[in-house]
Amino acid sequence: MQAGETAEIDPARTAAVVLVGGQGSRLRPLTLTTPKPMLPTAGVPFLAHLLSRIAAAGIRTVILGTAYRAEVFEGFLGDGSALGLDLTCRPEPEPLGTGGGIRYAADALAPGFEEVVVFNGDILSGVDVRAVVGEHRAAGADATLHLVRVPDPTAFGCVPTDPTGRVTAFLEKTLTPPTDQVNAGCYVFRRDVLDAIPAGRPVSVERETFPGLLAAGSRLQGHVESSYWLDLGTPASFVRGSADLVQGAAPTAALPGPVGTALLLPGAKVAGSASLTDGTTVGADVQIGEGARISGSVLMDGARIGDGVLVERSVIGPGATIGDDTVVTDAVVGDDASIGASCELLAGVRIWPGLVIPDGGLRFSGGA
Ligand code: GTP
Repeated sequence: MQAGETAEIDPARTAAVVLVGGQGSRLRPLTLTTPKPMLPTAGVPFLAHLLSRIAAAGIRTVILGTAYRAEVFEGFLGDGSALGLDLTCRPEPEPLGTGGGIRYAADALAPGFEEVVVFNGDILSGVDVRAVVGEHRAAGADATLHLVRVPDPTAFGCVPTDPTGRVTAFLEKTLTPPTDQVNAGCYVFRRDVLDAIPAGRPVSVERETFPGLLAAGSRLQGHVESSYWLDLGTPASFVRGSADLVQGAAPTAALPGPVGTALLLPGAKVAGSASLTDGTTVGADVQIGEGARISGSVLMDGARIGDGVLVERSVIGPGATIGDDTVVTDAVVGDDASIGASCELLAGVRIWPGLVIPDGGLRFSGGA
């Protein structure tokens, strides 16, 4: 097989591991009750979008590496058959980190699987999985990483490669990175390489496994692909990713409605003079008052939005209430919180679940 070719995936030989055990601390308070991969994103749990892409690549067997709030996943996914997958949740006895989580999940795979594709459970990506596998096989690599080029590599550790695509280093964040290629959170491993990750203790795949393999002379390949890519780890990227899915800018086979400027779930009641734009999602049974303007935001199930409200690039948690004429911009309102009339929530502010803020023009700014 030549470099640059996509591979046929044989579902009896290639399986997937999806890591979903993190605490999602940057997305609190939304993740206090719901783990990040289960947050509703364009109308369904984010994980449904990722699993739809895995199924579309031809993979059938998926192990979900869970730790934080493991029970939430099992309740929703069952055995995965509704998604065309054979899915098993594998809760860790204690959080094992990314590398330890991969090892623990892969231990549940039958011996016949020779190759494992690993996905971080919070990355929204259009990567061509067959192309990553194709490059891995063509290079005869021990492991292959999907790499993306980012506009500001100073915010990431970077991963330089030589002209053949072989990884030459794993570099920490620096003000003068020698490349704009960064780890995109999707890997292909030969099975025996996975089996060599230490069992029974926390391991970081980024800081321990990959640098260790490189130091030992293993062949690590970088697959650079500039398809859609977004890490949904922060509130700002979470609302952007959801809006991109609604508007068709991010690939998915799990959108519960047509691509458009807004997505409405069943039972939503929107006043005739309200406007919904820029990829807004309106969850089930949400109510939106007259003259409200909602742009690029996620309104979760049962939220109530008063008359004349402006919501921009924000998340309104399930059951939360926003009083008349309030402005919510770049903010997160937690589950069942109640915001009075004529308040301003701006620039990164986060309201904790159940909090009550009275009417009266209060102004909160998170300083973001
Ligand atoms: P933050 O706390 O906001 O940094 O988010 P996070 O907890 O998700 O951490 P991070 O974004 O670094 O994690 C990358 C991926 O690894 C995510 O898909 C996490 O769910 C997953 N992950 C992190 N730690 C663990 C763990 O201990 N076990 C498992 N199974 N997955 C993990």
